[in-house]
Amino acid sequence: MPAETDESKQRKNSLYGQVSKELAENMKQGWADTERHGLQPIALAAYTARRRAELSARFPGECLVIPAGNPKVRANDTTYPFRPSSDYVYLTGDQSQKAVLLLEPAQNGGHQAIAYMLPRSNRENGEFWLDYHGELWDGRRNSLPENEKLLGLPCADLRRLADRLGAATGPIRLLRGYDAGIDAALAGKVTAEHDGDFRVVLSEMRLVKDEFEIADLRFACEATALGFEDVVRSLGTSTPTSERLIEGTFWTRARIEGNDVGYASICAAGSHATTLHWVRNDGEARPGDLLLLDAGVETRNLYTADVTRTLPVGGHFTSIQRKVYEAVFAAQEAGIAAVKPGAAYRDFHEAAQRVLAEHLAAWGLFKNRSADEAYELGLQRRWTLAGTGHMLGLDVHDCAKARTEMYVDGTLEPGMVLTVEPGIYFQSDDLTVPEEYRGIGVRIEDDILVTQEGNENLSASLPRKAEEVEAWMARLRR
Ligand code: GLY
Ligand code: MN
Ligand code: MN
Repeated sequence: MPAETDESKQRKNSLYGQVSKELAENMKQGWADTERHGLQPIALAAYTARRRAELSARFPGECLVIPAGNPKVRANDTTYPFRPSSDYVYLTGDQSQKAVLLLEPAQNGGHQAIAYMLPRSNRENGEFWLDYHGELWDGRRNSLPENEKLLGLPCADLRRLADRLGAATGPIRLLRGYDAGIDAALAGKVTAEHDGDFRVVLSEMRLVKDEFEIADLRFACEATALGFEDVVRSLGTSTPTSERLIEGTFWTRARIEGNDVGYASICAAGSHATTLHWVRNDGEARPGDLLLLDAGVETRNLYTADVTRTLPVGGHFTSIQRKVYEAVFAAQEAGIAAVKPGAAYRDFHEAAQRVLAEHLAAWGLFKNRSADEAYELGLQRRWTLAGTGHMLGLDVHDCAKARTEMYVDGTLEPGMVLTVEPGIYFQSDDLTVPEEYRGIGVRIEDDILVTQEGNENLSASLPRKAEEVEAWMARLRR
């Protein structure tokens, strides 16, 4: 008799058919106990406990549900690489698939936190090898006691969560959009209004980074600098280099040093640099062209850098490339100088955009308009396109759901980390600029920590001045 197995977990068209009873029995036995004892909490555990306490204080008496999310199906039984939701990671330090953090109101105030996650695969019912995503296929998971020790947080079997949520009597807030099953299960219990508040609070909690996060962002920037160096070494000085090779070169470094890239790398050579989200990366970087490389390593704790350098592929800027580059550099200097505690968040953007407008005016691109007039009318945006930066952290565009008054209309505080990334982009088909400018795109982007005194450029190890960029490239290629 074949063993009973769950049809839905079996691959259709598997080369193996039925499992004999003898094989099923055989697979249950003969496995060593691999439980790890004496584990210590990870360094992050002290920080996540503090963050959960802060969240708890914001929502007394409410049950809070923060899912990590499910792997997204790519096709059939294959999935995209899994990355847990940033809020789940922020509050637990855990990266388990499908996990859910529950903060249940406690009797004497505050909340009891429990992370619901998959335990070790069951050997008795064959799940560990007959389920295509059992541990035999996907790798060993931490046991619940192991995770409790590592995360400093009670952990429970995910399969008990539905009952627990069903039994909840008070108000529930759910971070929607990460786990369709939980969204549906709680549809009658959670209001959209509640969700919105929850998302905003979580985003705003992440505006000021703690020392663990700052250290991790620093590491992300250092690893990113190594990736940029690898790319420079890979660039041909007399032959073209494919944008795909550049993308792969950076990605290799990201996988070695960290978890992944924090966003799709923009490897934009020649006129591709004028397309802000150029991630097709199917062109070629030719000597004589500029390469705009916007890429960031995401660390194993999932914090990402976001850095751009615009490099002369052949090693030297042409005079027109240098002219545009130096305007962007001057704008970035003005932007970075405006990053300091107590400054309005907008200041760095306005400082950089003013400098860009002045250069564009000096080049005669506003015709009869002065730089001031053009700036007031926002005319520079035809060529500067994007805002000058954004918060950075677990997400490349971090804290995105914070209230406007806390973010773009807010004030800079020590511990905030933001990008300063002015650019000039002259489209190839822009008939309003002289031909020599067309197809040139330049962005310089750095990751800036607000300190007590002013700021620190976390990505400063990568040169920015035109001549320093040239010298650095020459040194790497020797
Ligand atoms: N790489 C995305 C950005 O710079 O915002
Ligand atoms: Mn970027
Ligand atoms: Mn950016």
